[in-house]
Amino acid sequence: MARIPDAFIDDLLARTDIVEVVGARVPLKRKGKEYAAPCPFHDERTPSFYVSPTKQFYHCFGCGAHGTAISFLMNYDRLEFLDAVEELARAANMEVPRENRQRAPDNDTRGVYEALDAAARFYRQQLAGSGKAQDYLDRRGVDAEIRELFAIGYAPEGYSGLKDALGTDERRLKLLERAGLLSKNDRGHSYDKFRDRVMFPIADRRGRTIAFGGRVLGADDGPKYLNSPETALFHKGRELYGLWQVRQAQQKIARLIVVEGYMDVIALFQHGLREAVATLGTATTADHAELLFRNAPDVVFCFDGDAAGRRAATKAMESVLPRMRDGRQAFFLFLPDGEDPDSLVRAEGAAGFEARLREATPLSQFFFDHFAEGVNLGTLDGKARLAERTQPLLAQIPDGAFADLMRQRLTELTGVGARAAAPPAQAPAQRNARSGRGGPAPKRSLVRTAITLLLQKPALALEAPADGGFALLRQPGVPLLAELIAIVQARPDISTGAVLEHFAGREEADALNKLAAVSLPGDEAAWRGEFLDALDRLVEQTRRQRVDELQAKQREGTLDAVDKAELRDLLTVLARPRTA
Ligand code: UTP
Ligand code: MN
Repeated sequence: MARIPDAFIDDLLARTDIVEVVGARVPLKRKGKEYAAPCPFHDERTPSFYVSPTKQFYHCFGCGAHGTAISFLMNYDRLEFLDAVEELARAANMEVPRENRQRAPDNDTRGVYEALDAAARFYRQQLAGSGKAQDYLDRRGVDAEIRELFAIGYAPEGYSGLKDALGTDERRLKLLERAGLLSKNDRGHSYDKFRDRVMFPIADRRGRTIAFGGRVLGADDGPKYLNSPETALFHKGRELYGLWQVRQAQQKIARLIVVEGYMDVIALFQHGLREAVATLGTATTADHAELLFRNAPDVVFCFDGDAAGRRAATKAMESVLPRMRDGRQAFFLFLPDGEDPDSLVRAEGAAGFEARLREATPLSQFFFDHFAEGVNLGTLDGKARLAERTQPLLAQIPDGAFADLMRQRLTELTGVGARAAAPPAQAPAQRNARSGRGGPAPKRSLVRTAITLLLQKPALALEAPADGGFALLRQPGVPLLAELIAIVQARPDISTGAVLEHFAGREEADALNKLAAVSLPGDEAAWRGEFLDALDRLVEQTRRQRVDELQAKQREGTLDAVDKAELRDLLTVLARPRTA
């Protein structure tokens, strides 16, 4: 997708106050230079969630959540990046630059949203006037509150109810078409796509209607469910039916139950389980998995107990494994033959369904059961086969306790992979990063020190030597430090948060966020001294590195006159005592 220019993001963040953005959603209390609150992203009593007005970013020392005003909106309001940017831009009275943007909300896109919204209203009016549609919902036990919450409607019989009501001019007709609400016959004549069906509007993450599902009332009238086609606004592999309603019902979602059908979601809501969502007639995609875990730490997938259900579960498993960061859990609930969540919760009530959820199979177990199927683990060949089948998927699990446990389990089952379970290489670095909060500081690299200081106070970069002086130094982190300095030098007023936003989505982002969260002792004068000192030393190390290179050349006898002069100059400079 086309990007918004970095410069715009910088400006936007410069004109946004994160304290205001967070404060409008979470009760903040002033605490020294920062604001604190119980973390909105995990359960806790004592506040470990901090918002820094100077750094313009937030950090939770409990769960590690962190970011800028943009990522706060993404995580708290659960917006997509572009939507979060738009939201902040609106508040700051700024226009998001549109060139190259596929999702530019041009007038027509707005028009399509309006058409969908008008259609939803039309269908609801029709429901109010249709005895048989109301009877149908009565029979299925959907009460008035739930009808309202899901904005359930009814598409009338006949071929032009909607078209006549809303397609009153050329432009409106076009919009209805683009909204996926009309079909066309061979002669190019358009007519209502949904006829004589109970209508379920599909809401996006901001509650806007983007599509519909329609169910036949009787048994023998075409496909049981008809969904809107994919449109510019609707990609079914990215949407979850019911998610908007779950988010309306709960501030912090502890668990999401993933089911197959519209009526399953609605029945679970009707019985008080307001945490159900449905994939829209598709397998669980990677986008779904991401969306699920962005909203809740625990996800329970419900599937039919038959072969198709098992296949669907396998697909879901493959989609979630690469997203199983620590703190996330996935479960699989297989339903008895011929039942679905709708029929079960009616028969057994919420308590009965809860009991089943508690018995759901953890991902780890489903994983090994699945791959061990038909494999004789009593034989060497069988063990080898299990290892072979599982290792590619195990490799996709993000580093962490879950990955370690899964590898350990494979070792238990097969004796294979003991070495693969060695602790991840970056563990010590993480420990270093965290030590900024008091305690005897372990020896840190100069580069790390410089970066940490820079993240405390970006303006320090303005005093760095313009030529870099150390850019050629072969040490981890040097290119990153140089990049940070360049970013700040291009935008002297930039806040820590806005600097971090430059690295969003990049590998370095996590490490930088951790360093930025460190609350360094001392005052700005002390930081400045330390920073300049660190840079001085890096410049000196760069010179020594060059001296080593030149001396190596000398030994090989390839040192020319220019090199010789350079070496002499370097040795002279290095011999001078360092000024404090
Ligand atoms: P089911 O056939 O299991 O429907 O399809 P259901 O939810 O139990 O429906 P009720 O209880 O008879 O009303 C599950 C889901 O698969 C999709 C729909 O999303 C449906 O909710 N589906 C099913 C279709 O898209 N088209 C169909 O013809 C059938
Ligand atoms: Mn059903």
